[in-house]
Amino acid sequence: MISLDIKKTLGFISNDAIATYKEPIHKAQEALENGSGKGSDFLGWLHLASSTTQEHLEDIKATAQVLKDNCDVVVVAGIGGSYLGARAVIESLSNSFDLRLENRKNPIILYAGHNISEDYLFELLEFLKEKRFGIINISKSGTTTETALAFRLLKKQCEEQRGKAIAKKVIVAITDANKGAARITADKEGYKSFIIPDNVGGRFSVLTPVGLLPIAVAGFDIDQLIAGAAEMEKACGLDVPFEKNPAAIYAATRNELYKQGKKIEILVNFTPKLHYVSEWWKQLYGESEGKENKGIYPASVDLTTDLHSMGQWIQEGERSIFETVISVEKVNHELRVPEDKENLDGLNYLAGKRVDEVNKMAELGTQLAHVDGDVPNLRIVMPSLNERHLGQLIYFFEIACGISGYILGVNPFNQPGVEAYKSNMFALLNKPGYEEQSKAIQAKL
Ligand code: PA5
Repeated sequence: MISLDIKKTLGFISNDAIATYKEPIHKAQEALENGSGKGSDFLGWLHLASSTTQEHLEDIKATAQVLKDNCDVVVVAGIGGSYLGARAVIESLSNSFDLRLENRKNPIILYAGHNISEDYLFELLEFLKEKRFGIINISKSGTTTETALAFRLLKKQCEEQRGKAIAKKVIVAITDANKGAARITADKEGYKSFIIPDNVGGRFSVLTPVGLLPIAVAGFDIDQLIAGAAEMEKACGLDVPFEKNPAAIYAATRNELYKQGKKIEILVNFTPKLHYVSEWWKQLYGESEGKENKGIYPASVDLTTDLHSMGQWIQEGERSIFETVISVEKVNHELRVPEDKENLDGLNYLAGKRVDEVNKMAELGTQLAHVDGDVPNLRIVMPSLNERHLGQLIYFFEIACGISGYILGVNPFNQPGVEAYKSNMFALLNKPGYEEQSKAIQAKL
């Protein structure tokens, strides 16, 4: 089971200060449970893991098998909550260098619809030429421009390349039950489709088909992922005492640090496999808390890589940061430093040691240095990187986010701020229905 260690924050905030959150956090959890808080129509994620049926998982696995049987590459088209969760889990568990196309057990997963870069899309379409590829089109609203644009291009190429009949088999839609262009297209074309529940917002949707289908196509165990999340659901339940509830302690600690002027939380990893877990986490916390002119700014670094760039800022820059380190206890492979007769690089003192031992000492050394540099340090310990522990981590962050948002006094389940760029972009592109905004924006230029 993953665990949380806040000892290295206690020189900055006290246990007594953390204990003052006991009551407010209990109230926040009650509000989540009985739906009496802000944004209560978006609480479908709260007991999603424990209520997921085996039948639902088997349906997802059967669809994943169709894509596996018919594709060497599957493109996940989606943005924000409609791709980050899947990518976080897939990249955490994948062999980073297994890029071959032949004799694959599972398709390569690529991503589109999360940018509007013409070069990115052109190069992707070039790569897909003559490849047996499929598409998972994910959009809750079904109208997101980035995703719709990428899907239009991908669908056309898939149909031209593979024929309409195969395309129908290898294109899957995950969208709203009734509304949106993605739903209309899926129904008209007869694609297999999955529904994103109304009461689950994008950034809380990784344990719905939004995350589960791509993860299953990539060959990973969605039963274990859900089981892990359900375990954490229990460990963070309303009946669990404050001191024993890791999500409550995390929410309390980060909110107290924020109160003490630590405005930026940096999520830290020591393996590049967790890079997209940080991207997913940044969306979860950034979109949930950053509103009404408040909220911790969620940032991230990949170490030791970024110790050679951002490390300077973290060690000696403005003291407005704290760190949350995801520490993976046991790696999946073994590699030892070889002995070298000449020892020109001076590394023989490490000969025979595991590479991970060097990494662990870098991690410990970094923690001590940063704490000495006045950076409070929380540590989430993952026994290993597998589906079960990732499921636990996902739910831990989700429930802590809901609690934390309520403690902050905001609605953690909306994202009104993301509309501003969209209406400007539509006005600038003269989208029908935006005539007035178009005139107004042209006057500003
Ligand atoms: O968290 C959110 O709701 C957003 O980031 C969405 O996931 C993102 O904007 C994509 O929206 P949609 O799934 O409607 O295309």
